[in-house]
Amino acid sequence: MASIAIIGTGYVGLTTGACFSHLGHDVVCADIDEPKIARLQNGEIPIVEKGLDRLVDEGLRSGKLRFVVGAAEASKDAEFHYLCVPTPQGEDGAADLSYLEAAASEIAGVLPNDSVVVNKSTVPVGSTRVVARVLGRSDVAVVSNPEFLREGTAVADFLNPDRVVIGSRDQEAAIRVAALYSRVAAPIMVTDPVSAETIKYASNAFLASKLSFVNAIATLCEAVGADVNDVVLGMGYDSRIGREFLRPGPGWGGSCFPKDTKALARIAEDAGYDFSFLNEVLLVNEQQFDRTAAKIVDSVDAAAGQGHVAALGLTFKAGTDDLRDSPSIEVLKRVTAAGVKVRAYDPAVLVDDNHVGRIYPDLDIEIVGDPYTAAEGAASLAILTEWDEFTWLDFDKLAEIMGGRNIVDARNLLDDTIPRRRGFKYRGIGR
Ligand code: UDX
Repeated sequence: MASIAIIGTGYVGLTTGACFSHLGHDVVCADIDEPKIARLQNGEIPIVEKGLDRLVDEGLRSGKLRFVVGAAEASKDAEFHYLCVPTPQGEDGAADLSYLEAAASEIAGVLPNDSVVVNKSTVPVGSTRVVARVLGRSDVAVVSNPEFLREGTAVADFLNPDRVVIGSRDQEAAIRVAALYSRVAAPIMVTDPVSAETIKYASNAFLASKLSFVNAIATLCEAVGADVNDVVLGMGYDSRIGREFLRPGPGWGGSCFPKDTKALARIAEDAGYDFSFLNEVLLVNEQQFDRTAAKIVDSVDAAAGQGHVAALGLTFKAGTDDLRDSPSIEVLKRVTAAGVKVRAYDPAVLVDDNHVGRIYPDLDIEIVGDPYTAAEGAASLAILTEWDEFTWLDFDKLAEIMGGRNIVDARNLLDDTIPRRRGFKYRGIGR
């Protein structure tokens, strides 16, 4: 088994470290955030990731997983060095590599001979050369090993991936990295670094394109009177299309798709290709936010503008507590801008923790602790994130406590016959 340093303990770094220790490797995870490292060393997991707490606990107990402050402290005794630091979107749309370069420069002087440095974070095409330049170590190989982890299922996605991609021109380094995954049952493909980095961006951009396409089809369905649920069901039987990632919604978001899709459009532009298709995918997504917000505002107007909107769901998808680039928030920004009051509930957002206010200080919405408090006196109820508990709402109770009889189901979560039977006007997406 190998000794691995993980630089950065966000959902990618923490998941990668915990899973590598589960696979039998000796892992040291480093972060600059000292209090966070103390909590992690104490087994406290700061993010919602199914199964992660169990793997961290297992690693701490076995001694296969440790947490330290500072990248150099982790890298000084390791053979592999995984860079899992943030690569946020810069002002100009390009990825900001300052954290990556800072991490590389911090470990350059302590890397043991013949180390392998691995880019796990989503980095622009050509970043292995950037890291190699910063390291300035001819005895150290730099390899791309992009992650395909979805938030909320990151552990399962790491241990049961559809594929492992390794980008390296150094065959021996590629084989050494591939060996880290020897206990993972998945195809391992080795290519050059630029192709590996492009696979990551192209995969995310394709998935975002698929979602914008299905959201556009939903709009078409509304225009022609088709039911999008049946349309996507009929499409999904075609193995070339597949059933996954065909759920219409309020638009797509999260900490990856928006950032990576914009970054790829920028990478293309810098390389001299006007990726207008991708810009249209981004535009359709913005329009989906607009359309969903308009449905909600119209539903309040239908109630003579009396009362607020009960917004159910703030996170960018169910199963996570991540609010970054959340479609729900994008929609609610537009709803509040139209002068409509919002009272919101999300099972992953604590009432007394200013979680929303910290990230979105300009968003003026009230946060409450349950869906019925949100719905009390509401002109309309909007489902914006597909939390399972919203499937089981008590519409008899809602009919009693709400001021209006309007439902905007932006995730097509509900069987619309249930609210309709109780006199609600149901508005879905594409149905
Ligand atoms: C994504 C990619 O799936 C993953 O491979 C990559 O490594 C990181 O980015 P993630 O951002 O965690 O993962 O979320 P994902 O499950 O892909 O959902 C992204 C957005 O699309 C969410 O807002 C989600 O609600 C939306 N979505 C997803 C839909 O609207 N409909 C769908 O059918 C699926």
